[in-house]
Amino acid sequence: MSEPGFLAAVRSSYDTVAADYVRIVVPPSGMDPLSRAMLAAFAELVRGAPAAAPVADLGCGPGRVTAHLAALGLPAFGVDVSGEMVALARRSYPELRFQRGAMAALDLADGSLGGILAWYSVHHTPPEHLPALFAEFHRVLAPGGHLLLGGHTGDEQSRPDSAYGHPVSYASYLLPADRLVELLAGAGFTVTTRLEQARPERPDRGYVSLLAYA
Ligand SMILES: C[S@@+](CC[C@H](N)C(=O)[O-])C[C@H]1O[C@@H](n2cnc3c(N)ncnc32)[C@H](O)[C@@H]1O
Repeated sequence: MSEPGFLAAVRSSYDTVAADYVRIVVPPSGMDPLSRAMLAAFAELVRGAPAAAPVADLGCGPGRVTAHLAALGLPAFGVDVSGEMVALARRSYPELRFQRGAMAALDLADGSLGGILAWYSVHHTPPEHLPALFAEFHRVLAPGGHLLLGGHTGDEQSRPDSAYGHPVSYASYLLPADRLVELLAGAGFTVTTRLEQARPERPDRGYVSLLAYA
């Protein structure tokens, strides 16, 4: 499958920012309690499945959330398009598995995962590519397997000049939570839970965590 153009920008941008991303972005231990609660609920749901199956952290970045899931008892591994992010993750967590890859074209068999986490990683995918991305998530999840999608909400597209102190070339596409729910439903997911968090300093934006099953 040929690579969509936006992905090259995501890869090179995150290759550039990787080291400073880790310095600037809070790890799971510093997250707000509700985000941590959603991760814990996801872990508990996946652990409760009748058969244990691997859990993919898609767009895992430096692997800190993958390691958090592993500490919560999940057989988690990470996938990221950025080679620098994957290298950082492997150095930090040598006991875990991290692979380079595009989350819309996963090297995984149908129904092979017990869970998918996509944590602040789908907002660089242009909205017209989201139906195919969520269809890929649905393909690799076992029937009944759980998805936790966390990310930004809003209604805008932006192309920042810099992020984490470096020039970047990716774009960010923020969608309203309702639209994300609709897209997941269109890919065959049943969305059971949505946590929306306001950002007082940016009333036009927010955060959402969505729990769904395949
Ligand atoms: C904002 S970071 C979040 C990283 C991690 N989930 C965390 O919370 O620390 C977004 C990550 O998603 C990755 N990413 C974005 N789009 C991707 C895609 N289509 N396929 C694979 N990785 C992707 C980027 O390379 C980057 O490492």
